[in-house]
Amino acid sequence: MSESVLSEIVAAGVVQVTMNRPDRKNALDRASYAGLIAAIATAEADDAVRAILLTGAGGCFTSGNDIKDFAAAAAAGEGPRVAIDFLDAISTAKKPIVAAVEGFAVGIGTTMLLHCDLAFAGSGASFRLPFVALGLSPEGGSSYLLPLVAGSKKAAELLMLGEAFDAGTAAGAGLVNAVVPEGTALEHGLAKAKALAALPPQSVALTKMLLKRGSAAAVAETIATEAHHFGERLRSAEAMAAFAAFLKKS
Ligand code: COA
Repeated sequence: MSESVLSEIVAAGVVQVTMNRPDRKNALDRASYAGLIAAIATAEADDAVRAILLTGAGGCFTSGNDIKDFAAAAAAGEGPRVAIDFLDAISTAKKPIVAAVEGFAVGIGTTMLLHCDLAFAGSGASFRLPFVALGLSPEGGSSYLLPLVAGSKKAAELLMLGEAFDAGTAAGAGLVNAVVPEGTALEHGLAKAKALAALPPQSVALTKMLLKRGSAAAVAETIATEAHHFGERLRSAEAMAAFAAFLKKS
């Protein structure tokens, strides 16, 4: 597995999956997505794993897709395939996933929370869905799931204006279960992951399946439709200009 994603058993039945490119604020490049996909598949296949704890290294969740990779994909006329494979994997995982968020959760860093069963954010966490400002469009099933959990006006505000928002707003929008003191999200997430791991696994899996069943087809269809538009937007002049502006600053 790639070093940009670490996977380790941290308690009985709990695997911690850590996005690990701290010098890039854990931006997700192709290797990171491949690492996340592999980590989920390994956890799903291992009977000893009963819960997945998802977090980021260095006090940051993730700054979202690596913009250098976006620019490279756009230049090569490619779409965001490996990111979509990751979204397919996280949205259909059968084992419970608990997210622990500190620092930044940008773009897919926010939308992946819609597919986690539980999520906890440190009080200093900052969220943002900057797709429009980057000349892109929503991904990760967010155009379907965010209105469902946050309400249509809040979803429009967060997805259309794309301004940064704090942990309290994320909790109010249904993206996280609770805001916890800064620096303790991992501790809280681990406690809940351990609690899930101690429960009868088949009953946990059945409950997760039933909770997701009603929206599963719509989520899969939305991820695919969004991916089509997102792929086109990646190659747009608006997006290329936004990527160039970001990369010039780095
Ligand atoms: N892709 C590529 N590089 C990224 C990145 C990303 N998504 N996020 C951060 N980085 C890089 C920065 O360019 C910087 O590189 P440098 O040290 O060579 O200058 C380094 O990681 C540290 O980030 P920096 O911007 O200095 O940290 P910050 O604390 O000031 O700001 C963010 C953090 C997350 C607010 C800011 O980096 C940001 O807005 N990143 C882009 C987020 C984004 O738009 N993601 C795509 C969503 S679709």
